[in-house]
Amino acid sequence: MKSLNNQELATLLQGAKTIEADGSGLKVAQLEGGDFLKLFRRRRWLSTALWAPPARRFADNARNLLALGIGAPKVTELLQLPQRQSAVRYQPLPGQTLRAHWAALNAIQRAEQVEQFGAFLGLLHEKGLYFRSLHLGNVLRLPDDGFGLIDLSDMFISARALTDGKRQRNLKHMLRYADDANWLLQQHQADWLNGYAQTASKQAADKLARALHKMQAVHSGDN
Ligand SMILES: Nc1ncnc2c1ncn2[C@@H]1O[C@H](COP(=O)(O)OP(=O)(O)OP(=O)(O)O)[C@@H](O)[C@H]1O
Ligand SMILES: [Mg+2]
Repeated sequence: MKSLNNQELATLLQGAKTIEADGSGLKVAQLEGGDFLKLFRRRRWLSTALWAPPARRFADNARNLLALGIGAPKVTELLQLPQRQSAVRYQPLPGQTLRAHWAALNAIQRAEQVEQFGAFLGLLHEKGLYFRSLHLGNVLRLPDDGFGLIDLSDMFISARALTDGKRQRNLKHMLRYADDANWLLQQHQADWLNGYAQTASKQAADKLARALHKMQAVHSGDN
């Protein structure tokens, strides 16, 4: 792990493009050579830690995903920044987020993509992978038609398939986002579940389908 001072950070960011920023500053930048730099701010509860763990977790998770044959960015460097911030430098995956990609499709094209995404998620769940930041802005459609995950700091990989409760909780993360909920619960629920049933165990797929129907009822009641 390399430490950078303010001067060195400024030099690294020369000519960089802002990808994401919020009120407190830069979150993701694309450096001049094309690499991405994702910055993690110190959290209060970590204030005594010398090393802020999210960058390290990101790197570990990316390595584990690649070992499982799942698309993930290739991490090239972990950096310790001033004010106990940390950063991870990685080569971006090619492609678009599903949220952006699906928005540009018609309903027939999207139905097919949603089904494929359902199969992908079923596979992740069977492999014991719990991606806490699961939503359609954190999953990429790769040019070879596969999927890739980004935003990897919060993820757990266990040796067993996920429990039914974890599968449901994972899905609920996604349904907090209006576009995602509209596609997965309203417009393409059957396509999504068909895909999921292709890779998940029958029992788990049936249980999730029932839970999803209930969630849909709640969502419709909200509107
Ligand atoms: N590996 C990558 N390949 C291509 N694009 C990426 C990659 N990583 C990030 N991006 C783009 O940058 C955007 C932001 O990245 P990321 O999801 O890591 O941060 P964030 O959404 O700002 O963080 P958080 O979700 O923690 O608030 C993504 O929506 C995506 O468009
Ligand atoms: Mg994100």
